[in-house]
Amino acid sequence: MSKRFGYNLVTAGYYDLFNPPWSEIERQRIAFFHHYAQSVFAALDVGAGTGLIALPLAADKISVTCLEASPEMRAALLIKAAQQPEVLPYLTIVAGNAVNFHLNRQFSLIYACYMFHNLLEEHDQLAFLHCVRDHLASNSRFILTANFALPEAMSLTLLKEQHVGDLRYCLLMEQAVLSASHYEMRFVYEQYRGDEQIDTHEVYSQGRAISYEQLMTLCRDANLKLEVAYSDFNRQPYSENESRFIGIFY
Ligand SMILES: C[S@@+](CC[C@H](N)C(=O)[O-])C[C@H]1O[C@@H](n2cnc3c(N)ncnc32)[C@H](O)[C@@H]1O
Repeated sequence: MSKRFGYNLVTAGYYDLFNPPWSEIERQRIAFFHHYAQSVFAALDVGAGTGLIALPLAADKISVTCLEASPEMRAALLIKAAQQPEVLPYLTIVAGNAVNFHLNRQFSLIYACYMFHNLLEEHDQLAFLHCVRDHLASNSRFILTANFALPEAMSLTLLKEQHVGDLRYCLLMEQAVLSASHYEMRFVYEQYRGDEQIDTHEVYSQGRAISYEQLMTLCRDANLKLEVAYSDFNRQPYSENESRFIGIFY
């Protein structure tokens, strides 16, 4: 059977179950972006996914444009938005690619959370940063998350588990290193009734690792300057050699 890649129906269907917006970890992440968004006129969420960040902002009357390449992730976002009529005036969902979007307007906040590693070539990463520069209003901020370490090979490991009624849903991940900069993840979604496995799906995804220095060079080329960097969403200052990076650029 051929490998199924990317953010497809399986990923879209399970995304919020394993990243629940009500969990402490997601609440912290949302609060971080809310802090930067609260006084802005209009925000752009690049790789918005199922709207885990965009929907709470829109619920607080912040206008958010969600640029998202995957039709399945956009559909998941739209289904969620449709349940919350109060967000609809504040949410625009756009099909597009982070590396070549032209929205003919500027934003007072742009952010891309957990998306950058999906850009598999350096020229795509640079093209994305140029697109951000073109869409960023003056005196405005761009927030980018990145992970600097090349993940190590990992055999299939249980990452997360959720109970829904009588059923147990499991998310497992396997990781392979493909080269000095690229890695591949295999996500396996399993469903159990008691000890009996009743359903399983697998999805592959690839990532590109980048170093702090490489990222700073790309950002300089795109005329984006680093204002401050954190290593988590509690705003722990970033220090050299940490792998988790949340940069605030202008
Ligand atoms: C890990 S998810 C993160 C979703 C959301 N930002 C969040 O924090 O929950 C990455 C998202 O980026 C999207 N994505 C990946 N590459 C993209 C690209 N080149 N252009 C637009 N969206 C992209 C994927 O489809 C997916 O929805």
